[in-house]
Amino acid sequence: MRLRRRHGLVCYWYDGSFVVHPHPGGDPLALHPAVAEILSAFSEWTEQAEAAENLNHLSAETVEQAVEELRGSGLLLAADTPEAAADERFERQWSTWSPEAAFFHYATQDVKYPENDPAGESPASRDPQVPFVLFTGYPRADRIFLPRPPFAELHAPYEQVLRARRTCRDYASDPVPLPVLSALLATTFAPVDFIDCGRGALFRRTSPAGGARQELDAYVAVRNVSGVEPGVYHYNLREHSLELLSEGFTSADATHFCADQEWAGGAAFLVVLGLVVDRLLSKYPTPRSYRVSLLNAGHLGQTFALTATALGLGPAQTGAFHDSPVAERLGLDNIGRTPLYVLAAGYPAAEQPAAPPAAGLSTFRATTFQEAALEG
Ligand SMILES: Cc1cc2nc3c(=O)[nH]c(=O)nc-3n(C[C@H](O)[C@H](O)[C@H](O)COP(=O)(O)O)c2cc1C
Repeated sequence: MRLRRRHGLVCYWYDGSFVVHPHPGGDPLALHPAVAEILSAFSEWTEQAEAAENLNHLSAETVEQAVEELRGSGLLLAADTPEAAADERFERQWSTWSPEAAFFHYATQDVKYPENDPAGESPASRDPQVPFVLFTGYPRADRIFLPRPPFAELHAPYEQVLRARRTCRDYASDPVPLPVLSALLATTFAPVDFIDCGRGALFRRTSPAGGARQELDAYVAVRNVSGVEPGVYHYNLREHSLELLSEGFTSADATHFCADQEWAGGAAFLVVLGLVVDRLLSKYPTPRSYRVSLLNAGHLGQTFALTATALGLGPAQTGAFHDSPVAERLGLDNIGRTPLYVLAAGYPAAEQPAAPPAAGLSTFRATTFQEAALEG
């Protein structure tokens, strides 16, 4: 019988054990590291006898026993079985993103939630080892207290704002007035109210946030805002101030932040969302929680974009940025605090040459409208 190693396998060490983690849909298995060599002998469809020849420094009995166990645990698949067909489908679909994305996606699926708390809070999450600190602050930094916005600028009709929001990649050179930046930061990131979570206070924002831990801080890289010297700041939402972390921020810096995308150099400012790992970890110990912080970042990004639009700004956002240099410039250690998302805004230029053209007849002709029938 021909056997092959399952495509979806990641091996790692955990708590001193060697672990083989099949996916999708498999549980991690602590095994002897020698299984890696046996699995390697089955990279392609291989008869057991042929593999045993390649593993001839091991006894035939050892190989036979190991193969039986690896088949039983689904790490070796037999040809022409439904499991092999499913593994081929997985490989066709996910190989380009494997192992990183496929492993994260599937290894964090189907979490067993505690019955009375589907949000995933478990007793382990109450471990006092993981501190929860409500605010980030830089008490020794120089700061600018921001004007308190009356939110008067945000009366644009909702539907109009939704339809007007477009990613802007062509900016005017007009500086953004400080009250406008202030309104955008307050509306997107400042507390709306405070709640009692049973162990202390949490705050809520205009965007939803899994667990309401507000693990995403806003760092503002200012290039062209009147009344604020160019530089990298932390938005202190407790006191509604900008805390200066480092002076100077140029177009070239903005472009480089955003993985060398030229348009970013025209933005008046960037806002980097920085994840504070402990803030979410203190509630959610499951690795799936990292998904929650990515989803939270998306919510904040949308609120930012709509608010910027309502204020007359052109918003943009990018998932493509140079993580390590951004973290370094922000003074984040990239371990406990790490950048997740870069937002940008400025006044839109009168002309928008970088905006995509409208689709015409030839575009529609070149478009596939419908998927072939889904495989059963
Ligand atoms: C998570 C995310 C990442 C994005 N990254 C980039 C980017 O790196 N560069 C860019 O030019 N646009 C980026 N965009 C903007 C999209 O290209 C844009 O949203 C899309 O073309 C639709 O246009 P619209 O935003 O005007 O509706 C990103 C959008 C999102 C939501």
